[in-house]
Amino acid sequence: MWDIETRSAKGQEEIIKNEFLGKASFENLIKFFPLKLIEWFSRNQRDLPWRRTRDPYKILVSEIMLQQTNVEIVIPIYMNFLQKFPTIQALAAAKVEDVKIITDKLGYKRRGEFLHSIANQIVNEKGGRIPDSLDQLLTLKGIGRYTAGAILSFAFERSDPTAAIVDVNVDRVLSRITGIWTEERDASFIKTIWTLAESIIIPGKVWEVNQGILDLGATICVSKKPKCAICPMIKICEYYKSEYPKQIPLDSFL
Ligand code: ADE
Repeated sequence: MWDIETRSAKGQEEIIKNEFLGKASFENLIKFFPLKLIEWFSRNQRDLPWRRTRDPYKILVSEIMLQQTNVEIVIPIYMNFLQKFPTIQALAAAKVEDVKIITDKLGYKRRGEFLHSIANQIVNEKGGRIPDSLDQLLTLKGIGRYTAGAILSFAFERSDPTAAIVDVNVDRVLSRITGIWTEERDASFIKTIWTLAESIIIPGKVWEVNQGILDLGATICVSKKPKCAICPMIKICEYYKSEYPKQIPLDSFL
């Protein structure tokens, strides 16, 4: 059971290993952060087409398209793609050149091949059903740990640590809040961030928490000039308490 005691115990281990992760900041993260995030997200969420579905195929398509590409660019390409290839079977049966005509507009050209080959692998090896477990998802070429977590949380709404996600936005939000922010991303740092991402998974609310942290990172806790003055996490954020943001006048956050 992935309850608060289990999350807390895992966090304590991480606190011992990572000298920068304090007990207070971790406790704030598991107790305050997810509830505040859900409340903020309910009032501020972006209305995005892949948030109106729980269809694993549509979510897989959106998450592959969103890798390194902005939401605004993805939306029309995603809509067009699903009109042409409404099911995983339709995508697997298509010619890869026809898929690429649509996906090459995303910029990064391998996405069409990935989507086409993932669809074929699912149709040929998994009975046409998108897997609902981490191990199975990771056997698909082109699906990494982030995309697997996104599918598990957004399509299957799993309430366990496999539903955790870490991308650049999540990394920035979690490391700033807990005060472990650093330029160096070594293996132990990455492991700590994943533990933090697991620790905010609250049973029954994984969809809201993960979509919410992506929005917080994309609209408030942005890389340059974060909008700390309007951030729902200002009370618990170690980054905000630190000297760095105080050098920037508060109104420049807005
Ligand atoms: N980037 C990656 N996945 C996303 C999602 N579901 N919503 C917004 N931005 C995203």
